[in-house]
Amino acid sequence: MNDQIQQAVIQLKAGYLVGMPTETVYGLAADANNVNAVKKIFATKGRPSGHPLIVHVAAPNSTQANEANQSKWLKVLEPWSRDVSPEALALAEKFWPGPLTLILPKAKNVLREVTGGQETVGVRCPNHPIAQELLNAFAGGLAAPSANRFGRISPTTAAHVRDEFPDSDLLILDGGPCEVGIESTIVDLSRLASDGPVVLRLGAISQEQINGVLTHINSQKRIDRNLESSELPRVSGSLSAHYAPKTKLLLYSAEQLNQLAQELLLDSEKFSKIAWVHFHQQATMNLALKKTVVKEIFLPENPTDLARELYALLRDLDKLSVDLILFQELPSDSRWAAVKDRLGRASVGSGT
Ligand code: TXA
Ligand code: MG
Repeated sequence: MNDQIQQAVIQLKAGYLVGMPTETVYGLAADANNVNAVKKIFATKGRPSGHPLIVHVAAPNSTQANEANQSKWLKVLEPWSRDVSPEALALAEKFWPGPLTLILPKAKNVLREVTGGQETVGVRCPNHPIAQELLNAFAGGLAAPSANRFGRISPTTAAHVRDEFPDSDLLILDGGPCEVGIESTIVDLSRLASDGPVVLRLGAISQEQINGVLTHINSQKRIDRNLESSELPRVSGSLSAHYAPKTKLLLYSAEQLNQLAQELLLDSEKFSKIAWVHFHQQATMNLALKKTVVKEIFLPENPTDLARELYALLRDLDKLSVDLILFQELPSDSRWAAVKDRLGRASVGSGT
């Protein structure tokens, strides 16, 4: 076993936290069965204690599929959930290890500090070799939220995690930049009978992909609702202000740009330094305002690339000490939905 992983396991077993790379964002991991360790997550992040955590689990190895030919994921999920539905197994089969979190009825022994006192638990099997190596070596579940201070931008590199917690001696495993770059898709399967499956947070796995799997099981149980924000106050990623840079971030549509430029010019004392982030092809800017643009950044033209780069971009923009980030709205087709969701919340929470 690699030294760093061994060191991380020792820390986790002793009840300390470890910075863990995943394919989505870096997590702040603790032993999911150790109350005091889990409490440290909340204290370190400054996160309200009612917000539940995701439990990360190791992928089964091929010999774990049992003789009755049951899904190999059943064994993985049983310690955490008292009722593993065919829907849960089908989604795990298709998307795990990967950027998907399942909300399931919790097993009796799951700590209330992990579930936020709810009857459900979030479980995810991450697809990052270092996360998997750590989970295997630890041989237990790791509760881990994104490794940022509450409400701030999720980290996608080890250096971002260090920047979030500069004063701590947190051990951070460096797994390089995250491949996906935004948090996992969350599907709630805990109230199938009454509501069917419900997407609580969009991520790299789309609602269409989830539906595609679930239609094969029972056409009645396709996702047809997406309950975000107000109905789910305990899902911190669904708060309207989240993932936020400290600098004010203003979203604009291409048609609004000239009008907006006029307004900003009138307020040029307040906005004397602007960072302008936009798609290349729509690069026309009022010349007078352009003088106040100290940084111009072109966005990637596809949502996967932008998801990978978004949080690092927001962090870099924050370091520029500009008065305003002028950010072009993203297209409204569904391919952009997850990254558009994050950017919208970043904008609402910005400037504070
Ligand atoms: O990609 C990810 O999911 C990352 C990486 C580290 O795995 N984790 C992550 O964790 O984004 P966090 O804590 O920043 O966001 C998890 C979200 C929160 O909004 C939380 O409220 C929700 O999942 N959640 C966790 N357990 C839940 C439950 N039992 N019911 C409803 N929502 C839950
Ligand atoms: Mg988070």
